[in-house]
Amino acid sequence: MPAIMQAMPDHRQSGMSETLTAFYPWLKAFHIIAVIAWMAGMLYLPRLFVYHCETAVGTPEYERFMLMERKLMHVIINPSMIATWVLGLSLASALDVWSAPWFHLKLALVVALSAIHGMFSRWRKDFALGRNTKTQRFYRIVNEVPAVLMIFIVILVVVKPF
Ligand code: HEM
Repeated sequence: MPAIMQAMPDHRQSGMSETLTAFYPWLKAFHIIAVIAWMAGMLYLPRLFVYHCETAVGTPEYERFMLMERKLMHVIINPSMIATWVLGLSLASALDVWSAPWFHLKLALVVALSAIHGMFSRWRKDFALGRNTKTQRFYRIVNEVPAVLMIFIVILVVVKPF
């Protein structure tokens, strides 16, 4: 029996499909890798917005920030968010954690993180169209939100306080 199954209570083992069990450690490893990439992008993008506010529309600096933001969103943030969700939901099926209270709260916080992702995407498009109306101070404050959510999500999934 794989070590992961031995360490689990019976009700968890019974809910785990054979295929997902076999790949469980790999799913978790790639879930964590995807989370790291998603979070790196979610922490860096609003910082780019802060510096982008200092440049005038149409200048080479403005265009450079636009390119950096587009690449960060399309190459790192969007794909890693999708991978985090697909792998996270596979882990949840493997462990059958659908009724665990810690999981409900984790899911709610991840939905909030995904909503912020959607807002970042809209603000990036505003910059691309030269229509940003938000201030540097606004982006500095928004910059802290993904970090705070991440702290609670990791505590919930590792400590499982309830
Ligand atoms: C997108 C939706 C997500 C779902 C459905 C999900 C689900 C899960 C599940 C079921 C596990 C296995 C828990 C266990 O081993 O007992 C897990 C592990 C983990 N998740 Fe997520 N997760 C998601 C997103 C995230 C996010 C956004 C973060 C961090 C910001 C995160 C951080 C972690 C970490 C660090 C682990 C490893 C915990 C451990 O090994 O003890 N997850 N996730």
